[in-house]
Amino acid sequence: KFSRVLKKIAKDEVLNISEIKTLLKANRESELEALFLAANRIREEAVKDTVDVRAAIEFSNYCHKNCNYCGLRRENKNLTRYRMTEDEIIKVTKEIYELGIETVILQSGEDPWYTTDKIVKIIRRIKEEFGMKITLSLGERTKKEYKVFKEAGADNYLLKIEAANKDLFNQIHPDDNYEVRSKHTKWLKELGYITGSGGMIGLPSQSIEDLAKDILFQKKYGIHMIGVGPFLPANNTPYAEYKSGDLITTLKVVAVMRLVCQNVFIPATTAIASLDSEGQEKALESGANVIMLIMTPPQLRENYEIYSNKNMVDLDWAVESIMAANRKIPEYLNLDKLNRIDRSEVDAR
Ligand code: 5AD
Ligand code: SF4
Repeated sequence: KFSRVLKKIAKDEVLNISEIKTLLKANRESELEALFLAANRIREEAVKDTVDVRAAIEFSNYCHKNCNYCGLRRENKNLTRYRMTEDEIIKVTKEIYELGIETVILQSGEDPWYTTDKIVKIIRRIKEEFGMKITLSLGERTKKEYKVFKEAGADNYLLKIEAANKDLFNQIHPDDNYEVRSKHTKWLKELGYITGSGGMIGLPSQSIEDLAKDILFQKKYGIHMIGVGPFLPANNTPYAEYKSGDLITTLKVVAVMRLVCQNVFIPATTAIASLDSEGQEKALESGANVIMLIMTPPQLRENYEIYSNKNMVDLDWAVESIMAANRKIPEYLNLDKLNRIDRSEVDAR
């Protein structure tokens, strides 16, 4: 049954939910190997060998929402909250620009302190001073705001569905609603954004069927950037005592996502790197093709604790993962900025 489904992909046939479940249920060593190889082959055909490197500034860890899984939730009083000023954000963007990176991701909790006008000013300055591509990851905003941000120069918007099973979505999001999140996803697409979504693997009560739905959701909404990672327990949250999502299941979702969605960007996420020190390279070998660096200033980043024991993926870590996976470092990167790695080793590739 399993190999029959893999053959359908080779013939470019569309998979239904039960076929996706068959792939996700792979557990014999030979099946897993075949699945990851197939995903890696499609990745190579669709997006080639270069791993795209982007950089995120987590500019505020204030959040007015109370998602059950997340350490930034408003009821977590054990977190030192911070907000970066416009000038601080521009300063870090300049550092990212000097690394040669072409896309900056502005990420925060849902923090209305950053009004429409404040965000617009930041977008305009980044465009004027650096001409970089801008990804916004600010949570849910109004349709009007999405439009204004787009017109100011934002290119991408990252708003994750987290869980495409409606009941599961509503269970983990006390302030949110599945229909609303889906509607926002649609708006972002209609407004011309390059859209990002994705979700968590290993949430309490999540089934294989739910993971198959997650994959079909990304396909249905035509998402360009699909970030999946394990659920990781965060201290001081209702889910602090639950167990982490597991690596193999996460890699299987990455692989099947690639097989189903094909020509998309799939990051080897920070959550995967946090679960397992080799997780990122394994994800790159199972269909992923993007790494996002964390460029939040060192004195602040430990407070952006969406989950506990987060790996601070920096340029050196990313380059090591890319080399370990035998893939290409993007030509736009300025490798003079590497610390740990011997340059000759990099140049030899
Ligand atoms: N485990 C894994 N990922 C998490 N995120 C938030 N909390 C967790 C967690 N406990 C991810 C979600 C969310 C982003 C803020 O970080 O995908 O979109
Ligand atoms: Fe806030 Fe996002 Fe965390 Fe939910 S997942 S609490 S919206 S930062």
